Amino acid sequence: MGRLDGKIIVLTAAAQGIGRAAAIAFAKEGAQVIATDVNESKLRELEAFPGIQVRVLDVTNKGQIENLTKEVTKIDVLCNVAGYVHHGTILDCEEKDWDFTMTLNVRSMYLMIKAFLPKMLEQKSGNIINMSSVASSIKGVANRCVYSTSKAAVIGLTKSIAADFIEQGIRCNCICPGTVDTPSLRERIQARPNPEQALKDFVARQKMGRLATAEEVAHLFVYLASNESAYMTGNECIIDGGWNL
Ligand SMILES: NC(=O)c1ccc[n+]([C@@H]2O[C@H](COP(=O)([O-])OP(=O)(O)OC[C@H]3O[C@@H](n4cnc5c(N)ncnc54)[C@H](O)[C@@H]3O)[C@@H](O)[C@H]2O)c1
Repeated sequence: MGRLDGKIIVLTAAAQGIGRAAAIAFAKEGAQVIATDVNESKLRELEAFPGIQVRVLDVTNKGQIENLTKEVTKIDVLCNVAGYVHHGTILDCEEKDWDFTMTLNVRSMYLMIKAFLPKMLEQKSGNIINMSSVASSIKGVANRCVYSTSKAAVIGLTKSIAADFIEQGIRCNCICPGTVDTPSLRERIQARPNPEQALKDFVARQKMGRLATAEEVAHLFVYLASNESAYMTGNECIIDGGWNL
């Protein structure tokens, strides 16, 4: 018996990194996963896993989100994972960077939750898991100005949804990882003037001496998606190898 038997889970940003690991972990525990991403070719790789169906979805596109809600008749868990890291201080952050980050990291969650919540309310049950970060209201991190602002907003959004709908059977939590070894992290490291040093710096700030794997974060997704966490709502669940200590 799987820990998520019979649950229908809609997930964004599933083509790579933490989203992909979560999609695979959900399916292994018996969930029916609707894995979405804007990157169709990478997303299609997930079709090899039993229990995963894929749908192309740009989470910044309200029309595409509304079309998806028409296709999904029942939903137990909504996982909002899509997000983008802008590197720099406020002085490096142009208005276009600010707007792009807030649109992808926060407005997308507002659109997804607003679109899927009515179905959950009809069912009198629903579970929402949002992707935040330790770089947010939890910890001040250099060169993460707009990113941290957006991820702090995700925590606020999470608590607000949890408070507003707790009596209607809805739970909402967010996950706050430290540094996770994913394709986009590797790209950010390669984009630094000295990639080797940049990797050392990322590892050095982790007191455990290593980065997290996407699979380790996926375990937390499974727990929050399952009934094992039924008494948890409104939490920012930190998984950062002690980085915020
Ligand atoms: N990697 C880390 O160290 C880390 C740490 C804390 C939080 N996070 C957060 O976890 C989430 C996933 O990060 P990651 O590093 O695992 O993944 P990633 O950055 O490697 O992949 C992101 C995925 O999002 C998809 N995507 C981009 N724009 C999209 C859009 N408009 N619509 C739909 N999908 C879109 C991409 O195609 C890609 O598959 C992000 O929200 C990120 O901020 C990551």
